[in-house]
Amino acid sequence: MTKKKNILITGGAGFIGSHVVRLFINEYPEYKIVNFDALTYAGNLENLTDVENAENYTFVKGDITSVKDVQRVFEDYNITDVVHLAAESHVDRSISDPSAFVKTNVNGTVNLLNAAVEHWKDAYDEHLFYHVSTDEVYGSLGETGLFTEETPYDPKSPYSASKAASDHFVRAYHNTYGLKTVISNCSNNYGPNQFPEKLIPLLINNIKNNKPLPVYGKGLNVRDWLYVKDHATAIRIVFENGKKGETYNIGGHNEWRNIDIVELVCDLTDAKLNREKGKSRELITYVKDRAGHDMRYAIDATKIERELGWKPSLRFEEGIEITIEWYLKNTRWLERVTSGDYLAYYEEQYSR
Ligand code: NAD
Ligand code: DAU
Repeated sequence: MTKKKNILITGGAGFIGSHVVRLFINEYPEYKIVNFDALTYAGNLENLTDVENAENYTFVKGDITSVKDVQRVFEDYNITDVVHLAAESHVDRSISDPSAFVKTNVNGTVNLLNAAVEHWKDAYDEHLFYHVSTDEVYGSLGETGLFTEETPYDPKSPYSASKAASDHFVRAYHNTYGLKTVISNCSNNYGPNQFPEKLIPLLINNIKNNKPLPVYGKGLNVRDWLYVKDHATAIRIVFENGKKGETYNIGGHNEWRNIDIVELVCDLTDAKLNREKGKSRELITYVKDRAGHDMRYAIDATKIERELGWKPSLRFEEGIEITIEWYLKNTRWLERVTSGDYLAYYEEQYSR
């Protein structure tokens, strides 16, 4: 018989977290899924309205940087496993406020690790601490090459430095205390429910509102895009079959220069809005480059494909269509998340 699990998913009200929470609720009816999220500007329970009444689901508002909140959720729900996604996740914000990233991404992760060590110390092997991380810890690539699990860490932004530090702490707790851990490092995600500070939803929102489309530098930086539901599936597979202490890279074999993505999103969105072809390309505006802008990310995902049998299910051409349609259809969601604080952030970020 499968042993009952009470799985703590941190950051489950965010972009990727909400897709992971939904997948786990549906895949594991016999397990309890506890979504622990502080509901920062990036957390939004509207992302989960379709599953909020599921019997095996509970939402707990709590902060991973609070020892008390973390202790309490471990005790109240007898947490057996952790899937840790909560983080400050936007590189531009990390450039204006690095300390917030140290607090959440480093101290918050260490708080969770401490709680796991304390609560699971009698039987580490029966519990899993799964840390969800990013390919940005490996730094920046030149024109060729791919990040493998053996690529040395070389983080270059305050965001990636804080994620790298959190990865190191997870490995240190595995090595020092014997905590059963796994880490996955994924490339850029896109899809429904992404906060529109990130490139693709920002473009769609601005096209819709006829606002300038800010392209950093020359638009030649390259990102490797993966549909968010394929990342969520990879997380489920690593959760189930990942080997203790191991790291898995996750990516879509799908590299795009930023300017090519911008033009593609313009053309596809114009078609859906019945606008004249080429209309939105007129909104493209080259702006000051991001400080320390990483040139290229690209993931070698052969380990997870070979060892765990994961592969992206969706072609980019399909994923990007679904994504644009989602933002155009979910106008209330988009309007709500782009009011209030977002306007102040946008003004500050793009008026420099
Ligand atoms: P997101 O910013 O959309 O969501 C982050 C969530 O964490 C939000 O719900 C927020 O409320 C919550 N949170 C923030 N601080 C918290 C705190 N102190 N306590 C509790 N909850 C808190 O992020 P995302 O893009 O969904 O990324 C999720 C994870 O995946 C992050 O760890 C990120 O580093 C990693 N990742 C993201 C990408 C990507 O392309 N977005 C790619 C690879 C890895
Ligand atoms: O690689 C994984 C990472 O991908 C995740 O760990 C991060 O959490 C996630 O935010 C993402 O980081 P990026 O910095 O690559 O994503 P972003 O959407 O901010 O930017 C994508 C590219 O587009 C990047 O080269 C910067 C550029 N850009 C971004 C914005 C917001 C622009 O040219 N204009 C913009 O307005």
